[in-house]
Amino acid sequence: MKLLVVGGGGREHAIIKKLKENPSVEQIFALPGNGGMAADATCVPIGAKDIPAIVDFAVAEGIDYAVVAPDDPLVLGCVDALEEKGIPCFGPRSNAAIIEGSKVFSKNLMKKYGIPTAAYEVFDELDAALSYLDTAPIPTVIKADGLALGKGVIIAQTLEEAKAAVVSMMQDKAFGASGDHIVIEEFLTGPEVSVLSFTDGETVVPMISSMDHKRAGDNDTGLNTGGMGTIAPNPYYTADIAKVCMDTIFLPTIRAMKAEGRPFKGCLYFGLMLTPNGPKVIEYNCRFGDPETQVVLPLLTSDLLTVMQATTNGTLADTEVHFSDKHACCVIMASAGYPGSYDKGLPLTIPAEIANSVYVAGAAIQDGALVTNGGRVLGATAVADSLPAAIAAAYGLVEQIHFDNAYYRHDIGARALQAQEV
Ligand code: AMP
Ligand code: GLY
Repeated sequence: MKLLVVGGGGREHAIIKKLKENPSVEQIFALPGNGGMAADATCVPIGAKDIPAIVDFAVAEGIDYAVVAPDDPLVLGCVDALEEKGIPCFGPRSNAAIIEGSKVFSKNLMKKYGIPTAAYEVFDELDAALSYLDTAPIPTVIKADGLALGKGVIIAQTLEEAKAAVVSMMQDKAFGASGDHIVIEEFLTGPEVSVLSFTDGETVVPMISSMDHKRAGDNDTGLNTGGMGTIAPNPYYTADIAKVCMDTIFLPTIRAMKAEGRPFKGCLYFGLMLTPNGPKVIEYNCRFGDPETQVVLPLLTSDLLTVMQATTNGTLADTEVHFSDKHACCVIMASAGYPGSYDKGLPLTIPAEIANSVYVAGAAIQDGALVTNGGRVLGATAVADSLPAAIAAAYGLVEQIHFDNAYYRHDIGARALQAQEV
């Protein structure tokens, strides 16, 4: 089979490596991929948002199955466009990807169907939002409606900060049209858990839980990033909590989307907070998480392509999906300065013996040599029998990888270890 994966980061590299385990896979194209995954996929310089070019390529190459990994092309209708040409896809259609594409949509969906989430109000007018804040509990959370590269969420610790956030989104358009509508919501507390799930629109099969580390610095300090590391499973997510989530969140969400005429197929990512009042949804993503995928898929013992095809064909209920009972840890190596400005083009060495444990996010081939080409450069993932062993092994991998000014957090998994000890 010839496969196509839309996207080009560490998540896509993890998906590609897992898909390759299926012996019927002859070739995988990555659009655009990156130079660091050239050994695993044929990278083609077509941008992940260039849907007409993606469709033309898929038709010309006779692609048998396509995986659309990032949020933008999903929201823009990449799956719809490929399916129109008869190419089966993993991922939701645009009318279901809106669950991530519009926070107003997802909040209203949860309210309508009684799915637990932070209390909220939606605003379309600056003045109404500002006067609401005068009576709102502080801290408060302000969210731009649309996709904003993960930056459209501001946790305001004071009334002044909250008002400044609203002005920057609604008046100064810091996130463009995403700020035309905003959500102001209750600040929740508790451990965060990421649960990715496979779904065919009827059946939902949660994957192993994970924990992201979003802040740039050790001990959760510094700016928010796309994610600096992950561990799986997440020790806060017990079997009892998993059952509550299935009954109050996962199944109700899948049923709600179907009832709305927006059946969701693909990977639905539940960003949860385990609050003192039970698990609540912080956000939905219409896709695999990055870098959650880099710890979840290495623990999948079933064939990824078979499971993906079952989500497309509506046969997930009859498909085995199993995970190993091991632990995984992924440490992201970034270029110093990330998430601010950083250098690119630095020579990157990854020893061949460990290449299978490395998911490259931002690299290019320049004059025949591998160089860095992004803020998050790669993730090194180790799998072991215990969480401490997985963490130690992941940092062991990091020590063997080199580029100038490499930056990484030293405490990936530390919070999870504390939770395990309680
Ligand atoms: P998001 O970009 O939607 O993933 O949000 C970024 C982060 O903001 C989340 O991972 C949470 O840590 C935090 N967050 C979002 N909404 C809330 C909330 N209602 N209460 C507390 N923290 C929140
Ligand atoms: N790691 C969070 C996300 O993929 O949105």
